[in-house]
Amino acid sequence: MALFKNDAAGEGAKNLPRHIAIILDGNGRWAKKRGLPRTAGHAAGAETFRRIATYCKNLGIDYLTVYAFSTENWKRPREEVEAIMGLLGKYLREAVETMERDHIRLKILGDPSILPESLRGLIAETADISAHYEGFQANVCLNYGGRDEIVRAARRFAEDYKAGRASELTEESFSSYMFSAGIPDPDLIIRPGGEMRLSNFLMWESAYSELIFTDVLWPDFTGEDIDAAIAEYQRRDRRFGGIKK
Ligand code: IPE
Ligand code: IPE
Ligand code: MG
Repeated sequence: MALFKNDAAGEGAKNLPRHIAIILDGNGRWAKKRGLPRTAGHAAGAETFRRIATYCKNLGIDYLTVYAFSTENWKRPREEVEAIMGLLGKYLREAVETMERDHIRLKILGDPSILPESLRGLIAETADISAHYEGFQANVCLNYGGRDEIVRAARRFAEDYKAGRASELTEESFSSYMFSAGIPDPDLIIRPGGEMRLSNFLMWESAYSELIFTDVLWPDFTGEDIDAAIAEYQRRDRRFGGIKK
């Protein structure tokens, strides 16, 4: 399959999504199928993220955004939330060591204020390291909610407006108040795990994203599933409200 940016045939290069977003779903069911605790599914899912991020980077994708923990996921049992926070901490600690070497910039989207102190420190460290180089960027949505993002942006805009720092509101200027400021909208959103909904993911940014749903559970997700999603994306006709050229 000619999906690579620098593939000699160059077929896929014409139409490679610049930004892929993934809703990491199905960890719990993956574990249940194996008679394991749900937390084992989250651990397997974290490994899958590592693999898929490297895969997307090597394909020549510029941005990969993953939905790792939503503003609604706090409703889960405390032990599960603690296990997820522990895994995120482990991942971020490892990322601090390896991201410079692997040239993976990491940005956390969401409200860090209620996250454990140690996680907040790691988030700040990854942001510092990422500021020093360019290239592939992975965005991890953590305590992220699409509606929460819009409400926060509206509040920040209102404050700037009151202080005379903002002029009339436009779609473009409003985008600059979002967690995703400066990041192009996702071209393609993939949801593994079989559910066909967005669950409060990128409500503003997904306006014209192509959506692909698959039954594969996230821990089982492979590079081939990325290839298949990109191939499907390349068959779609994106009109953005216009007509086919
Ligand atoms: C996704 O997997 C991870 C998070 C939402 C934190 P789930 O934990 O939602 O897995 P299922 O949907 O129960 O299988
Ligand atoms: C969406 O998955 C949130 C994340 C993957 C972080 P959920 O498992 O929380 O979504 P619902 O509850 O099935 O809509
Ligand atoms: Mg789920």
